[in-house]
Amino acid sequence: MSRKKIIAGNWKMNKTPSEAVELVKTLAPLVQNPEVDVVYCVPAIDIVPVAEAIKGSGVKLGAENMYCEDKGAYTGEISAAMLKDAGVQYVILGHSERREYFGETNADINKKMKQAIRNGLTPIMCCGETLEQREQGITIDFVRQQIKVGYQDITAEDAAKTVIAYEPIWAIGTGKTATSEQAQEVCAAVRQCIREIYGDAVAEEIRVQYGGSVNGGNAAELFGMPDIDGGLVGGASLKEDFGKIVNYKG
Ligand code: 13P
Repeated sequence: MSRKKIIAGNWKMNKTPSEAVELVKTLAPLVQNPEVDVVYCVPAIDIVPVAEAIKGSGVKLGAENMYCEDKGAYTGEISAAMLKDAGVQYVILGHSERREYFGETNADINKKMKQAIRNGLTPIMCCGETLEQREQGITIDFVRQQIKVGYQDITAEDAAKTVIAYEPIWAIGTGKTATSEQAQEVCAAVRQCIREIYGDAVAEEIRVQYGGSVNGGNAAELFGMPDIDGGLVGGASLKEDFGKIVNYKG
């Protein structure tokens, strides 16, 4: 079975609403490839104008985070229903920056995963090790734990539709990409972990992205690996280079 590649930009805390619309316009002629799913994951305040700006382009809309409760007294938070109503289809959950700076735990991320799924959003669940963990040789154990807790009480049918982004923390924003072999090794281990939980069919269907200093020059090699189904792209998603990544086959 061949999985459709999914290439998502994670804009992080960049671009005001008017800059966001400008960026969509700049990228529009470059970011065209019907063979891949392209997603812009944008800051919450950019969601409404970007939803309008991408209309008719085929690009899909994603959020960078959401809260796990339906509604209520959670000042500053955004609910899954709000995202859905604004036209969002994907939501990044458990990015390493949220884990590190905002104290999100695997259990928190599991709650958000279930809430996203209940509301018809597709989670892009992030996992990945620190440099220290890699040097200690515990990368795969660590990532497996993130996945096992993240997917607790999620059915096979729901899990199959989700996306997992493997992002080694040492490769994020550093210009130091994992080699395609390193990325493939962990993405294969991610798929194996899903296989152990849900069986072969889900493991073959679920899409596993690589993220961490992906750019127009390394995308083809990374996305050519058997267990890498696309990328989650930070810095390069804010530039024309994103067009090269989306058209990685050249
Ligand atoms: P960079 O592509 O800037 O390394 O960021 C990766 C990332 O964190 C995407 O979520």
